[in-house]
Amino acid sequence: MSGAAEHAAGLDPLCIAKATEIAREGGARLREFFAQGVETEYKGDVDLVTVADRTVEKLIRARLGETFPEHGVYGEEGTRDRLAGRYRWYVDPLDGTTNFAHGFPQFCVSLGLEDRPAGIKPEEDGTLVAGVIYDPMRDELFTAERGRGAILNGKPMRVSRTPDLAESLVATGFPSRKRHASPNVHFYQEFTLRSHGVRRAGSAALDLAYVAAGRLEAFWEFNLNPWDTAAGILLVTEAGGRVTSFAGEPYKLDSREILASNGLIHEELVGLFGDLFAGRDLTPIPTPHEYALARAAKGR
Ligand code: IPD
Ligand code: CA
Ligand code: CA
Repeated sequence: MSGAAEHAAGLDPLCIAKATEIAREGGARLREFFAQGVETEYKGDVDLVTVADRTVEKLIRARLGETFPEHGVYGEEGTRDRLAGRYRWYVDPLDGTTNFAHGFPQFCVSLGLEDRPAGIKPEEDGTLVAGVIYDPMRDELFTAERGRGAILNGKPMRVSRTPDLAESLVATGFPSRKRHASPNVHFYQEFTLRSHGVRRAGSAALDLAYVAAGRLEAFWEFNLNPWDTAAGILLVTEAGGRVTSFAGEPYKLDSREILASNGLIHEELVGLFGDLFAGRDLTPIPTPHEYALARAAKGR
């Protein structure tokens, strides 16, 4: 990273303010849809989509196009505009669709901006330079700009200072496609046994924002996409935390695994992932059948 407090070359100094306006407008539309209720469709076995996802992506695509006519836009609902340009927005118009569809008020708009200087190879990552996550139900706005820190509703935010997993509250999520192929329930169990608890609140972008805000010590998930993570990664790193693969390697936007933390517990988590992937230190728990037999034996 060059010139910590400099805006990335050619980047509008009002970029965050303008993106915030767009995220707030998108969030206001989500609030209206949420109040009126929407029908749900399926993209996969339990991968839901609603008119709200599509309408808000369309709105954000139009606003980004008017505000930053040279910037690319890469959205979950299919937008692929101007991807050869220097800057690229990763857009999740509604992160937490399953919550939204069930009337569970935990979801957000997420906008992350990547700087891809000339000559960069298509498979190479650029640098994340701006991130905006807006929770319209709590009116919480999380923003970050590279080298300028992370902000929650106008106040600087920092990751927590908790030094070990045993005293941590952590979070994860589960995929909505090919759920039977995910090993994450084993990790869920082990982290539950070794921490104050694991939350599965249903919005990866807000989970990352909460790590940045010090409300969670860590978050991990398998198989996320850049529209889920781009803004949140910058929030966590600008708030003093770390984001890597489960093995502690530098995070790439197309990585299939993400581990974000307050930094202080990161090495401990990487060690734990290594142990669990190697089959070491798994805690035996009774199967439901064994539990039923034990319960029957006690006459309960
Ligand atoms: C989902 C949420 C969820 C995570 C899923 C994501 P969507 O995004 O972030 O927390 O567990 O993996 O797909 O589909 O609601 O935008
Ligand atoms: Ca998402
Ligand atoms: Ca989404």
